[in-house]
Amino acid sequence: MTIPELKIGDLVARIPIIQGGMGIGISLSGLSSAVANQGGIGVIAAAMIGLHETDICSNFREANIRALRREIRKAREATEGILGVNIMVALTNFADMVRTSLEEGIDIIFSGAGLPLDLPKYLKDGFKTKLVPIVSSARAAKAICKRWLSKFDSLPDAFVVEGPLAGGHLGFSAEQLENPDFALEKLIPEVVEAVLPFQEDRKVDIPVIAAGGVYSGGDIHKFLRLGAAGVQMATRFVTTHECDADIRFKQSYLDARMEDLVIIKSPLGLLGRAIRNQFIEDVEGGKKKPFKCPYHCLIPCNVKDSPYCISLALVHAKRGTLKHGFAFAGQNAYRAEQIISVKELITSLLDEYTIAACGSIADCQQSMPRVLDSPWQGV
Ligand SMILES: Cc1cc2nc3c(=O)[nH]c(=O)nc-3n(C[C@H](O)[C@H](O)[C@H](O)COP(=O)(O)O)c2cc1C
Repeated sequence: MTIPELKIGDLVARIPIIQGGMGIGISLSGLSSAVANQGGIGVIAAAMIGLHETDICSNFREANIRALRREIRKAREATEGILGVNIMVALTNFADMVRTSLEEGIDIIFSGAGLPLDLPKYLKDGFKTKLVPIVSSARAAKAICKRWLSKFDSLPDAFVVEGPLAGGHLGFSAEQLENPDFALEKLIPEVVEAVLPFQEDRKVDIPVIAAGGVYSGGDIHKFLRLGAAGVQMATRFVTTHECDADIRFKQSYLDARMEDLVIIKSPLGLLGRAIRNQFIEDVEGGKKKPFKCPYHCLIPCNVKDSPYCISLALVHAKRGTLKHGFAFAGQNAYRAEQIISVKELITSLLDEYTIAACGSIADCQQSMPRVLDSPWQGV
């Protein structure tokens, strides 16, 4: 029972797993190349990628361009697999990040946190980069298809559909997060149906990818059966050796209990999911964390009224100084028990997928005895 490949245009990933982009230094060349080497799609996140550059405060634009270029090249040296860049629409340097990724010949650009309505305008003749919007509803997917068709005579190469259990900023209101009508299990068939007429009209494939709370091989099997062509997973990749965050960031996942995963109101006016800590409690209790903003990195950020700087808080978290920040995480983060390699993680996911696809362990034993020897069985 082999897992299907994921095809996005002429790109073929041997396994249908995309590692979700994790900004402010959590997914860089280390994690993305490790995932690509295992046959998945590795993704470098562009948000504040220049955080380690010495001139980040004085030369925000150039520092980020330089760092992105370097991370793409480093990842490319480490893998021949498929690499993407995640670029949030909300970034003030969105255009810089898109242009740099295209110049570096990145395979795929993933773009959410807003609707990437004008993304194709950057794609000049000869570029082969695939464009994949991240959406949270069938309505958004339809709006993007219509706009790209009318303005650019093109369609997205795929959609990532991010449901309410994801980590980081979320595309849902507090009521929607609680409403089962917005569960990823509902959204996937809706988006598949919404893009069907566009696919048929243009005779192209627009694979739909499920994201948000996908944790086990059984989950992957479930979403493929619901019509997804693949999954995007982020939280699961944080507790790997190759994840680019400080060990203390990863440890905060291992230490988290279910009740520690909380919804916060970000200074961007969006809700987000994070691991509760003293910093979050201070802010909830009305404490301000004074800061100077040298670069205004996120368009919707209301610098004047923000109780803290979200970029700075996330930079601290990435570096392991969680006292001055907090870790974004998906709802399933509390399930992590140990730090393993990307290879071990992918092997366990594939084994679990096989068991789910066989229907029962007994059936599986007959067709694939190796699965039952796996130390990861049941993880
Ligand atoms: C630490 C962290 C940082 C994230 N940063 C970004 C980001 O910069 N851009 C983005 O589009 N999504 C971001 N996300 C969302 C992920 O890419 C992904 O779609 C989502 O978390 C999937 O759900 P999962 O974490 O349950 O697997 C982030 C998620 C986490 C956990």
